[in-house]
Amino acid sequence: MKSGLIVSKIRNGTVIDHIPAGRALAVLKVLGIKGIEGYRIALVMNAESSKMGKKDILKIEDREIEEKEAELITLIAPDATINIIKDYEVVGKRKQEIPQEVVGLLRCTNPSCITNNDVEAVTRFRTIKRKPLQLACEYCETRLTEDEVVRQILG
Ligand code: CTP
Ligand code: ZN
Repeated sequence: MKSGLIVSKIRNGTVIDHIPAGRALAVLKVLGIKGIEGYRIALVMNAESSKMGKKDILKIEDREIEEKEAELITLIAPDATINIIKDYEVVGKRKQEIPQEVVGLLRCTNPSCITNNDVEAVTRFRTIKRKPLQLACEYCETRLTEDEVVRQILG
């Protein structure tokens, strides 16, 4: 892994590793980080990886990742590893499972779906397939592809 040559190790915080190349910005978006919060952040895109060819890496100092956020990250980075760093050491490493259900985050692409017509309705998708990701709307069965999910998160 050559990206160590680009960015130094962090003292405390979170390193999200093995993000598919080009998707680090989508991960930041899921975390709601815009830059103005003041966290020191290193974002490496298209770094060499022996396992993935190319990958993105995100290092965020002094910020932890909540369970819910970790689940959402799997939608755009299914193989991501979340490393917890304390005093320069990796004290925790987890690989999150793609959730069975995604509630309230994505919108259904079917204009006549109830979730697009009733302001009270909350979207609800269940995971049909993990690789490549495919979700189905609980109300109208419309499928969302992985590209669509990434596009919605970035939009
Ligand atoms: N890292 C960091 N700062 C630290 C410790 C680790 O930025 N103080 C980063 C490393 O550069 C790496 C990731 O956190 O990108 C995971 O570190 P480590 O577990 O040491 O690396 P690997 O063994 O290569 O991880 P994996 O097996 O998950 O690929
Ligand atoms: Zn629907």
